[in-house]
Amino acid sequence: MYVTSGRTRVKAWAPAKLNLFLEVLGRRDDGFHELDTLMLPIGLWDLLTAEPTDDGSIQLHAEWAMPSGRIDSPLLTDRGIGQLPDAEQNLVYRAFELVRKTHCEPRGVSLGAVVRLWKRIPSEAGMGGGSSDAATALMLANRIWNLHLPFAELAQLAAHLGSDVPFFLYSSSCLCRGRGEIVTPVSSCQSLFFVIVKPPLGLSTAKVFQHTEIPRTPNDSGAIINALSNGTVDQVGKRLFNRLQSAAVSQYESIAQLARVFKRLDVVSHQMTGSGSCYFGLCRNAKHARHLAQTLNSKNLGNAFAVQSARVPISRRLCEQPGQN
Ligand code: C5P
Repeated sequence: MYVTSGRTRVKAWAPAKLNLFLEVLGRRDDGFHELDTLMLPIGLWDLLTAEPTDDGSIQLHAEWAMPSGRIDSPLLTDRGIGQLPDAEQNLVYRAFELVRKTHCEPRGVSLGAVVRLWKRIPSEAGMGGGSSDAATALMLANRIWNLHLPFAELAQLAAHLGSDVPFFLYSSSCLCRGRGEIVTPVSSCQSLFFVIVKPPLGLSTAKVFQHTEIPRTPNDSGAIINALSNGTVDQVGKRLFNRLQSAAVSQYESIAQLARVFKRLDVVSHQMTGSGSCYFGLCRNAKHARHLAQTLNSKNLGNAFAVQSARVPISRRLCEQPGQN
């Protein structure tokens, strides 16, 4: 994510992600699944602003971004971008409340916040929108309340909020293991370009995991990590993988239909992201991605748009990350 600050109001952009590789290693006793997944932040952003108050309450105003929004990222104007949860169920609200309860109340300080969220990242799409907003909210709370919480503490709070939330504290591609919360940044030598389709329906993460068969011999992320760090787009493309896709196909015919359509397109490679329902193609460059978005939009499969991998300058990051210099 990246950030700009006013005197008291802080503004931050929260990116979406794509899973370039996702293997399920096993089912755990706590109901979660052990994962090996490579995630990449992309240039589709939600916008958050936060300012401190001294009344101890959190007020969240959330809405879908309107076409007049000035953020330079694609905007989904069609149906099917998803429902916004009630304010108190929203992970942004829960993130602020968690920081307030664990770090303000024990210090005897009664701090509150007014938080605004403009959403562009579709929900139930496998793009991590809610998790990214939650990670950004943790960092905003830390910043506007001057708590100076170290990265390790934010990472713990993030894991409490959701499996994908710790990844979004970083601003780079990462290998995520455990249930997703054990995060290792991975270098990526080039910008990658994608065309993404958001079909009308979303998919429930829990249901997709429930229907996933655990492989006897899991695939390994080593090869795609090497390709991302030192290889070509074609080498990355050859190693795209998502174990959750067949479970999603069994629940939602649109994923199978998207796979068939992408197979006939001139893309480097293609697959579903995360637990779906978004489906993406890896493209050769920005023009190629834009051209395919136009082609796909004419096929009435959902909302198609072009994006590229996100790069956030260190000076614009909301908190210092391990190994950052
Ligand atoms: O952690 P999060 O709240 O995002 O997970 C949502 C649901 O997805 C979990 O309740 C669980 O059913 C499933 N899940 C899983 N294994 C993971 C991550 C999520 O089974 N590693």
